Amino acid sequence: MMDYSTKDTTVCGSSTIVNHLPEIGLQKAVSEIVDGLLACPKRMSCKYFYDTEGSKLFNEITRLPEYYPARTEKEILRKLPLKNLIGSGDIDITELGSGNHAKITIILDRLSSEQLSHIRYLPVDISRSSLETSIRAITGRFPGLSIQGITADYYHQMHLIPGERKKLLCFLGSTIGNLDRDDAMSFVRNIAESMQPGDGFLIGFDRLKSAALLESAYNDRQGLTARFNKNILCVVNRLMQSDFDPEDFEHRAFYNPEQRRIEMHLEAKRAVHVKCPSMAIPLDLQKGETIHTENSHKFDVNDIQTVGEHAGLSLYRIFSDKNEWFSLAYYKKMS
Ligand code: AVJ
Repeated sequence: MMDYSTKDTTVCGSSTIVNHLPEIGLQKAVSEIVDGLLACPKRMSCKYFYDTEGSKLFNEITRLPEYYPARTEKEILRKLPLKNLIGSGDIDITELGSGNHAKITIILDRLSSEQLSHIRYLPVDISRSSLETSIRAITGRFPGLSIQGITADYYHQMHLIPGERKKLLCFLGSTIGNLDRDDAMSFVRNIAESMQPGDGFLIGFDRLKSAALLESAYNDRQGLTARFNKNILCVVNRLMQSDFDPEDFEHRAFYNPEQRRIEMHLEAKRAVHVKCPSMAIPLDLQKGETIHTENSHKFDVNDIQTVGEHAGLSLYRIFSDKNEWFSLAYYKKMS
């Protein structure tokens, strides 16, 4: 669920979730979507994948045999030297785009109750339903942990995130790959500016690899990725009362070697007309016309170093699996 209208704080067990999306407002979200549909080629922002259904589908994707990023990152998380990353004093662990709690659970599971008592966990996500599910699961498992959920579009609302305490920021899952390369660099730089000396930033990067491996991760045999891709149309329909029919579209995912990224598109199977009260005239798509729904950039070691240099962060270490299919980079803010 993406709730742009009700400004409120929900109580979730002993924790709260603050919804900051109304500060962006439904009007702004809708006008962004319309701009994307009037652009050439047409596009939709991948943040709209994650309503309740989309978050559920993505969780299922992370368990697919073809989708190596999630399981490979978990394997790396299980071996991360947490002592260096978390230390023993009070600390905020702020997770941007927390989504499903599988990743943070691996970290929390490895900490003592003494360490947990010094931690405040701040998951930030655009999907309130996935925050609720995660917070419930985490509170049940780690009763002593303090948690404050934040529903926000972290790309535009980073300034809302509490910053007094020492922090470890986490941007996992290679979500950074959704941003264009320049945007990724300035995003990390903006965040780095708000960090204090000694704060850390842990970022997950999906690595460059053969096009065949990449393409099979985004074209699974069960068709879950196709359902995930088409679900964006249902989310957009709800946000702007449009009448896209997901059955009018075909899932397309392929590797673009020039841009070094997987691209996902929805391709019209036939001529499509879409009506929407926010658009003066119906939207027409020709047969074969596409809507670009996601980019998932892939990175090499040099890219990972450049992200740190551009942000003025020092790259402490890169942790990878033995095939180097995925990396967690740990950056630190120096004085
Ligand atoms: C959650 C953005 C990391 O790009 O691999 C999975 C989303 N899209 N299958 C990715 C996704 C299609 C995923 N991220």
